[in-house]
Amino acid sequence: MAFTSLILILFCSFCLILQAQAQAQAQAPAPSSGAVDLVAILQKGGQYTTLIRLLNDSQQLIQIQSQLKSNSQGFTLFAPTDNAFQNLKSGALNHLSDEQKVQLILYHVTPKYYSLADLLTVSNPVRTQASGSDGSWGLNFTGQGNQVNVSSGVVETQVNNALRQQFPLAVYQVDKVLLPEELFGEKSPAAPSPKSPKSSPETTTVGKAGGAPSPSGEGQKDNGAAERNMGFGVILGVGLICMGALS
Ligand SMILES: *[C@@H]1O[C@H](CO)[C@@H](O)[C@H](O)[C@H]1NC(C)=O
Ligand SMILES: *[C@@H]1O[C@H](CO)[C@@H](O)[C@H](O)[C@H]1NC(C)=O
Ligand SMILES: *[C@@H]1O[C@H](CO)[C@@H](O)[C@H](O)[C@H]1NC(C)=O
Repeated sequence: MAFTSLILILFCSFCLILQAQAQAQAQAPAPSSGAVDLVAILQKGGQYTTLIRLLNDSQQLIQIQSQLKSNSQGFTLFAPTDNAFQNLKSGALNHLSDEQKVQLILYHVTPKYYSLADLLTVSNPVRTQASGSDGSWGLNFTGQGNQVNVSSGVVETQVNNALRQQFPLAVYQVDKVLLPEELFGEKSPAAPSPKSPKSSPETTTVGKAGGAPSPSGEGQKDNGAAERNMGFGVILGVGLICMGALS
């Protein structure tokens, strides 16, 4: 009898160790293979077809992707959704030259990695990759509680769920295109004028991939919870066996 109890106690301990290990694995960050695939991150988000196209057309995909390897500061990308582009005034982007379109995209990228916690306390304005003769174009961040807002001076919006928040690259969803004052401010040469209401190729081809955006990380969380529940079940079962054996 004492021997069986001993075996069972050993078995219990063994299970506890397994359980602890499973938990540790569930909580550990996903293994980083070193190579960050920006397109894959955006595609997984499911609502960034326009952004991917603009990043690609302006050669920024290649630029960011290659600089991620060498830039020791990392990058942060504020990723406007397809809806954000669709909600722009019709033709807004038609007024921009190719060079200005590149600047608009660059304005959504900072040459530094910021976690959401960093953004809550960062000192303004924050440098972006976009710049003109007057230097780098900045973004202002304001935080309240856990909510971070970003302002371009022309638009203000919330910094939403993180598609990725792991050095060297952070990607956050924004529901508005960040229009820089330098291009869209009152006095800017490219300020949208009410004439020419013809539809823009920028806004006509979007919105097909609306689909079912899944907030990133949700699946992982579910898996973790399931694992913990299973672990708990095992412990409970073994505990009952132990109690039965000891009584
Ligand atoms: C980027 O553009 C090139 C040339 O237009 C195209 O072949 C490629 O598939 C595009 N890549 C992505 C990720 O959209
Ligand atoms: C953030 O912006 C939203 C509107 O987009 C506004 O309601 C909220 O008060 C702002 N929060 C902060 C901290 O500025
Ligand atoms: C950021 O805030 C400063 C100080 O309030 C202001 O002068 C500047 O215009 C703001 N810039 C943007 C992009 O909002």
